[in-house]
Amino acid sequence: MAVQRTFSIIKPDATKRNLTGKIIAKFEDAGLRVVASKRIQMSQAQAEGFYAVHKERPFFGELVEFMISEPVVVQVLEGEDAIAKNREVMGATNPADAAEGTIRKDFALSIGENSVHGSDAPETAAEEIKYFSSDDELVG
Ligand code: CMP
Repeated sequence: MAVQRTFSIIKPDATKRNLTGKIIAKFEDAGLRVVASKRIQMSQAQAEGFYAVHKERPFFGELVEFMISEPVVVQVLEGEDAIAKNREVMGATNPADAAEGTIRKDFALSIGENSVHGSDAPETAAEEIKYFSSDDELVG
């Protein structure tokens, strides 16, 4: 597998509880490098656009409200097989199903307040990176 880039968000439940460093340590311990990072307050329009694929889902409103409730940290992670590796480090979407040692097992509060987002495929990774980062922010 080649070196890839993937997009990550440290979500409001985690920034609120001061877990940013502990979460980044899990990425780095897994061999993922943070090549771009910024703490932002997401706007409603940004959150609705980012999660547009879920707009017909019953939890869409709740998801958008949650994502704008506190600052988030948006990052680009790079490494060998980074998309799959990040998903492994995050654990299952629902923390009740997440494996031991994963971010969601250790930190997530619920399926909604699940501490992190990570891209699920190369196409979405490219789109999500572009959505939040300009080329000059990807500093390696
Ligand atoms: P994420 O990887 O950010 O992508 C979509 C998000 O929707 C997902 O993580 C969850 O946080 C959220 N989500 C999925 N299912 C539910 C649900 N049943 N209730 C609330 N939020 C959900």
